[in-house]
Amino acid sequence: MPTLSVRLIQCSLAYLVLGFTIGALILFNKAIHVIPFVWTLLQMHIEFLLLGFILQLTMGVAFWIFPRIQTTSDRGDVRKTATAFVLLNAGIWICSIAPFIPISYILLSGRVCQTAAVIFFIHNLWPRVYAFGKY
Ligand code: HEM
Repeated sequence: MPTLSVRLIQCSLAYLVLGFTIGALILFNKAIHVIPFVWTLLQMHIEFLLLGFILQLTMGVAFWIFPRIQTTSDRGDVRKTATAFVLLNAGIWICSIAPFIPISYILLSGRVCQTAAVIFFIHNLWPRVYAFGKY
Protein backbone atom coordinates (compact mmCIF):
# COMPACT_ATOMS: atom_id res chain seq x y z
CA MET A 1 0.00 0.00 0.00
CA PRO A 2 1.46 3.45 -0.89
CA THR A 3 2.59 5.60 2.07
CA LEU A 4 -0.01 8.26 1.30
CA SER A 5 -2.79 5.64 1.56
CA VAL A 6 -1.34 4.45 4.87
CA ARG A 7 -1.47 8.00 6.23
CA LEU A 8 -5.01 8.67 4.92
CA ILE A 9 -6.32 5.38 6.38
CA GLN A 10 -4.47 5.81 9.71
CA CYS A 11 -5.99 9.29 10.07
CA SER A 12 -9.46 8.03 9.17
CA LEU A 13 -9.27 5.35 11.87
CA ALA A 14 -8.10 7.92 14.43
CA TYR A 15 -11.11 10.11 13.52
CA LEU A 16 -13.38 7.04 13.91
CA VAL A 17 -12.19 6.56 17.50
CA LEU A 18 -12.42 10.29 18.35
CA GLY A 19 -15.82 10.68 16.62
CA PHE A 20 -17.32 7.63 18.32
CA THR A 21 -15.99 8.81 21.71
CA ILE A 22 -17.61 12.22 21.29
CA GLY A 23 -20.84 10.55 20.08
CA ALA A 24 -20.86 8.30 23.13
CA LEU A 25 -20.32 11.30 25.43
CA ILE A 26 -23.23 13.18 23.81
CA LEU A 27 -25.43 10.07 24.04
CA PHE A 28 -24.44 9.51 27.68
CA ASN A 29 -25.18 13.15 28.47
CA LYS A 30 -28.68 12.77 27.04
CA ALA A 31 -29.37 10.24 29.82
CA ILE A 32 -27.31 11.79 32.65
CA HIS A 33 -26.70 15.52 32.31
CA VAL A 34 -23.16 15.68 33.70
CA ILE A 35 -21.20 17.42 30.90
CA PRO A 36 -23.45 20.25 29.61
CA PHE A 37 -20.88 21.66 27.16
CA VAL A 38 -20.67 18.31 25.37
CA TRP A 39 -23.29 19.46 22.85
CA THR A 40 -20.85 22.07 21.56
CA LEU A 41 -18.86 19.05 20.29
CA LEU A 42 -21.67 17.89 17.97
CA GLN A 43 -20.12 19.76 14.99
CA MET A 44 -16.82 18.03 15.75
CA HIS A 45 -18.59 14.63 15.98
CA ILE A 46 -20.12 15.13 12.52
CA GLU A 47 -16.89 16.48 10.90
CA PHE A 48 -14.78 13.67 12.36
CA LEU A 49 -17.11 10.85 11.27
CA LEU A 50 -18.49 12.04 7.93
CA LEU A 51 -15.32 13.66 6.50
CA GLY A 52 -12.51 12.51 8.80
CA PHE A 53 -13.51 8.83 8.75
CA ILE A 54 -15.80 8.05 5.80
CA LEU A 55 -14.40 10.43 3.15
CA GLN A 56 -10.74 10.02 4.15
CA LEU A 57 -10.98 6.18 4.29
CA THR A 58 -12.52 6.26 0.80
CA MET A 59 -9.72 8.51 -0.48
CA GLY A 60 -7.03 6.28 1.04
CA VAL A 61 -8.38 3.07 -0.48
CA ALA A 62 -9.17 4.69 -3.86
CA PHE A 63 -5.65 6.15 -4.16
CA TRP A 64 -4.28 2.66 -3.48
CA ILE A 65 -6.50 0.43 -5.64
CA PHE A 66 -7.44 2.50 -8.70
CA PRO A 67 -5.62 1.30 -11.82
CA ARG A 68 -2.25 2.91 -12.53
CA ILE A 69 -2.01 5.47 -15.34
CA GLN A 70 -1.77 3.49 -18.59
CA THR A 71 1.17 5.39 -20.10
CA THR A 72 3.39 5.80 -17.03
CA SER A 73 2.28 2.86 -14.85
CA ASP A 74 2.36 5.09 -11.80
CA ARG A 75 -0.25 6.97 -9.72
CA GLY A 76 0.31 10.30 -11.45
CA ASP A 77 1.25 13.51 -9.62
CA VAL A 78 0.82 12.31 -6.05
CA ARG A 79 1.57 15.83 -4.76
CA LYS A 80 -2.08 16.60 -5.58
CA THR A 81 -3.30 13.87 -3.23
CA ALA A 82 -0.79 14.97 -0.59
CA THR A 83 -2.19 18.50 -0.89
CA ALA A 84 -5.71 17.08 -0.61
CA PHE A 85 -4.67 15.23 2.57
CA VAL A 86 -3.38 18.44 4.21
CA LEU A 87 -6.32 20.60 3.05
CA LEU A 88 -8.94 18.05 4.13
CA ASN A 89 -7.55 17.71 7.64
CA ALA A 90 -7.06 21.46 7.98
CA GLY A 91 -10.68 21.97 6.90
CA ILE A 92 -11.96 19.32 9.34
CA TRP A 93 -10.22 20.99 12.29
CA ILE A 94 -11.18 24.53 11.24
CA CYS A 95 -14.87 23.52 10.96
CA SER A 96 -14.67 21.53 14.22
CA ILE A 97 -13.36 24.46 16.26
CA ALA A 98 -15.54 27.04 14.47
CA PRO A 99 -18.30 26.87 17.18
CA PHE A 100 -15.71 28.05 19.74
CA ILE A 101 -14.22 30.92 17.72
CA PRO A 102 -16.38 34.05 17.28
CA ILE A 103 -14.86 34.99 13.90
CA SER A 104 -17.20 35.21 10.95
CA TYR A 105 -16.40 33.17 7.84
CA ILE A 106 -14.25 30.69 9.80
CA LEU A 107 -16.67 27.85 8.99
CA LEU A 108 -16.70 28.97 5.36
CA SER A 109 -12.90 28.93 5.22
CA GLY A 110 -12.96 25.36 6.52
CA ARG A 111 -15.49 24.35 3.86
CA VAL A 112 -13.32 25.99 1.18
CA CYS A 113 -10.35 23.88 2.35
CA GLN A 114 -12.46 20.70 2.25
CA THR A 115 -13.83 21.49 -1.22
CA ALA A 116 -10.34 22.29 -2.54
CA ALA A 117 -9.15 18.96 -1.08
CA VAL A 118 -11.77 17.05 -3.04
CA ILE A 119 -10.93 18.95 -6.25
CA PHE A 120 -7.17 18.19 -5.87
CA PHE A 121 -7.93 14.51 -5.17
CA ILE A 122 -10.26 14.12 -8.17
CA HIS A 123 -7.70 15.90 -10.37
CA ASN A 124 -5.08 13.30 -9.36
CA LEU A 125 -7.41 10.32 -9.71
CA TRP A 126 -9.20 11.28 -12.97
CA PRO A 127 -6.54 9.88 -15.40
CA ARG A 128 -6.77 6.57 -13.50
CA VAL A 129 -10.47 6.13 -14.32
CA TYR A 130 -10.56 4.16 -17.58
CA ALA A 131 -12.09 0.97 -19.01
CA PHE A 132 -9.93 -2.14 -19.52
CA GLY A 133 -9.91 -3.70 -23.01
CA LYS A 134 -12.83 -3.18 -25.46
CA TYR A 135 -15.83 -3.10 -23.04
C1 HEM B 1 -19.90 6.71 11.24
C2 HEM B 1 -20.71 6.84 12.26
C3 HEM B 1 -21.51 8.09 12.60
C4 HEM B 1 -21.85 9.16 11.84
C5 HEM B 1 -21.52 9.40 10.36
C6 HEM B 1 -22.61 10.07 12.70
C7 HEM B 1 -23.15 11.28 12.25
C8 HEM B 1 -24.00 12.06 13.02
C9 HEM B 1 -24.74 13.20 12.51
C10 HEM B 1 -24.69 13.71 11.07
C11 HEM B 1 -25.45 13.72 13.55
C12 HEM B 1 -26.38 14.96 13.53
C13 HEM B 1 -27.78 14.45 13.31
C14 HEM B 1 -28.78 15.58 13.33
O1 HEM B 1 -28.40 16.74 13.53
O2 HEM B 1 -29.94 15.30 13.14
C15 HEM B 1 -25.17 12.90 14.71
C16 HEM B 1 -25.72 13.13 15.93
C17 HEM B 1 -25.44 12.33 17.01
N1 HEM B 1 -24.63 11.21 17.04
FE1 HEM B 1 -23.63 10.43 15.53
N2 HEM B 1 -22.70 9.57 13.97
C18 HEM B 1 -22.05 8.35 13.95
C19 HEM B 1 -21.88 7.49 15.00
C20 HEM B 1 -22.31 7.77 16.28
C21 HEM B 1 -22.06 6.93 17.42
C22 HEM B 1 -21.26 5.62 17.37
C23 HEM B 1 -22.66 7.52 18.50
C24 HEM B 1 -22.72 7.09 19.94
C25 HEM B 1 -21.97 6.19 20.48
C26 HEM B 1 -23.29 8.73 18.01
C27 HEM B 1 -24.00 9.60 18.81
C28 HEM B 1 -24.67 10.72 18.33
C29 HEM B 1 -25.55 11.56 19.16
C30 HEM B 1 -25.87 11.35 20.63
C31 HEM B 1 -26.03 12.57 18.33
C32 HEM B 1 -26.98 13.72 18.72
C33 HEM B 1 -28.39 13.25 18.37
C34 HEM B 1 -29.40 14.33 18.76
O3 HEM B 1 -29.35 15.42 18.18
O4 HEM B 1 -30.20 14.07 19.64
N3 HEM B 1 -23.05 8.87 16.66
N4 HEM B 1 -24.27 11.90 14.35
